[in-house]
Amino acid sequence: MTLLVTGCAGFIGSAYCRYVLKHHPEDAIIGLDALTYSGNLSTIADLQESSRFSFVQARIEDEAAVSDVVKSGSVSAIVNFAAETHNDRSILEDADFLTTNVIGVSKLLKVVRGCGVQKMVQVSTDEVYGAAPHGKFTEDSPLLPNTPYSASKAAGDLQCRAHFKTFGTPVIITRGGNSYGPFQYPEKLISFFAVRLLQDKKVPLYGDGSQVREWIHVMDHAAGIDCALRSGTPGEIYNIGTENERKNSEITRVLLDLLSKPESLIKQIEDPRKGAHDVRYSMDSSKLRSLGWKPQVDFDRGLRETIAWYDEHESWWKPICDRPEYQQFVARFYGPGLGEDL
Ligand SMILES: NC(=O)c1ccc[n+]([C@@H]2O[C@H](COP(=O)([O-])OP(=O)(O)OC[C@H]3O[C@@H](n4cnc5c(N)ncnc54)[C@H](O)[C@@H]3O)[C@@H](O)[C@H]2O)c1
Repeated sequence: MTLLVTGCAGFIGSAYCRYVLKHHPEDAIIGLDALTYSGNLSTIADLQESSRFSFVQARIEDEAAVSDVVKSGSVSAIVNFAAETHNDRSILEDADFLTTNVIGVSKLLKVVRGCGVQKMVQVSTDEVYGAAPHGKFTEDSPLLPNTPYSASKAAGDLQCRAHFKTFGTPVIITRGGNSYGPFQYPEKLISFFAVRLLQDKKVPLYGDGSQVREWIHVMDHAAGIDCALRSGTPGEIYNIGTENERKNSEITRVLLDLLSKPESLIKQIEDPRKGAHDVRYSMDSSKLRSLGWKPQVDFDRGLRETIAWYDEHESWWKPICDRPEYQQFVARFYGPGLGEDL
């Protein structure tokens, strides 16, 4: 089949394309991406070498453009990774989050219905459930998002539910945990800290770093999404978690260890997310596991390989870190704590 993968030039979307090209030799992919600040052609250079991959630059809110791609490419399934994804950026300004994560999703759902696409997967996040001080979220847990980012993702999920109920649009939602691996834009905990430590720069630990996240390697996340696409039921939601729960402070110390850097590079800063910094995320993923998926990558090995990848791929991340937009964001958000010029 031909898949339309939206958000293909980002972190998880590009990993998903690699996964499909490797595991489904009969499939072709049309990758679509707006190439926002976090989408990079350098991330998909290897994919572009495949005759089974082609790339289109467009925004998912552009219903006419996406419809044209779907019709001319005889697309049978859409997997949507396109999103604004950074909590901290959503605290500064949420307009793009609402445009892409809510309106964009509703436009894609209209394309699915209008063009007779057989299945769509909406890639969502555990953050829509809000904090889990105890226990685990199931797919039936209430949506209690706490940041503008997670609220926009929850609104996208509700668009999916409504289109399934109202029109029978064949959409599946996946909710994955915190992902790590190669090609992650250097703004999330592991990728941001790795590139800063590699440059002997300080890393900002929010508060005491006691927030707990459920970490999943990006290829395990990609495999989970693929399992939901091929074996899941339209209208259903599937959590994709690992039960690998780690405190941010623990991750930070492991990164220092792996890179042989001193503790003095940790700068504890006042939590910019204030009350919205969820203390813990944790999911019950037995529903997806019952379809045959399970995580394969051991966390210690995955983290070691990921840090080695950033060490070896300065040519990928340094041009991003040198962009004025990137430096302005870091200085504006963390400036006083990290000693960066404002
Ligand atoms: N990174 C994580 O830990 C994580 C965890 C769970 C779920 N998710 C979800 O996975 C998806 C992908 O996340 P990611 O980490 O790969 O993000 P990313 O920022 O690396 O990639 C997002 C991609 O979407 C593109 N994009 C943004 N707006 C667009 C638009 N309007 N039209 C077309 N393309 C657009 C960007 O150019 C970029 O290539 C998101 O939906 C996110 O909510 C991420």
